[in-house]
Amino acid sequence: MKEQLEKLAGTSLEEVSSACDIAALDALRVKYLGKKGELTAILKQMGRLSAEERPAMGQLANSVRASLEAAIEERRTQLEEAELEKRLEAEALDVTLPGSRVRGGHKHPMDVVIDELKEIFIGMGFEVDDGPEVELSTYNFDRLNTDEGHPAREWTDSFYLDEQSRTMLRTHTSPMEPRIMETRSLPIRAAVFGRCYRKDEVDATHSPMFHQMEGLVVDEHITFADLKGMLNNMAVQLYGPGTVTRFRPHHFPFTEPSCEMDVQCHKCGGKGCPTCKGEGWIELLGAGVCNPHVLEMSGIDPQTHSGWAFGMGLERAAMRQFKIADLRLMFENDVRFLEQF
Ligand code: PHE
Repeated sequence: MKEQLEKLAGTSLEEVSSACDIAALDALRVKYLGKKGELTAILKQMGRLSAEERPAMGQLANSVRASLEAAIEERRTQLEEAELEKRLEAEALDVTLPGSRVRGGHKHPMDVVIDELKEIFIGMGFEVDDGPEVELSTYNFDRLNTDEGHPAREWTDSFYLDEQSRTMLRTHTSPMEPRIMETRSLPIRAAVFGRCYRKDEVDATHSPMFHQMEGLVVDEHITFADLKGMLNNMAVQLYGPGTVTRFRPHHFPFTEPSCEMDVQCHKCGGKGCPTCKGEGWIELLGAGVCNPHVLEMSGIDPQTHSGWAFGMGLERAAMRQFKIADLRLMFENDVRFLEQF
């Protein structure tokens, strides 16, 4: 029995120290120390020993068991450490590797212009709005004093969405004037930005979809002088100090009096060049003092309040700012073009 135990101790310790993973180690524990294990089997024979032999054998058996258990524990620790080491190595981050570069996007030229205008008008105390692109013709026309029979209401000019011409794609941002007048408390300072639609043939300066900005002020004692003051201020902020503007009489059904505002060509200083098509002036926007009837229709008393409004096409502004000759380029979304701004 003594030899059996010594032999078992020798081979089992050797096997344990060369076990290559935790699973193999567990198998060895079962093989030697389990209920049907080899050491257990030897111990079962103890009964056959004489009373004098038993204590010494018992002691030897216990020490073999103890050293085997210790060896298994030691090997387990070794294997676990090695495994952790391997995992750490596999999951290691090499912080010196160059990262995969994320290509940053940038604003579309239209958004550059819109954001610049927002800055200017927020600076003058305006609230920014957008409003629906699918609009009721009531707001697009009637509430703006544009009666049935007005040429702008023709099917050939506007995109209607039903046979009765009740709904349409807005042809300008002006329908937001009555929408704001009837919902907001006075005084009003509103700046509206958004897409508008007209049945225009596409060419270098026209598109059936375009952007406008609407400005609206309603308060006590508002006059044409306020309109000129604010729009001149805007022109200076957009085109720099010394920018010259002029106001030409015009007609809009929803403003009275009405005008168009031009800026002197910043390229040629008014002499005439390709940028201003030889005119010396660039048309910027339409504007005017709110027609009292428009105020009245929106529940504002024209005896106590007055206002002014303007509407400006934004594509032309972007084309001037970025020297883009053809408007179509802005909506074709060719990144090679858009990346330049
Ligand atoms: N809505 C007009 C247009 O599209 C511009 C405008 C707005 C004129 C506000 C006067 C006042 O041409």
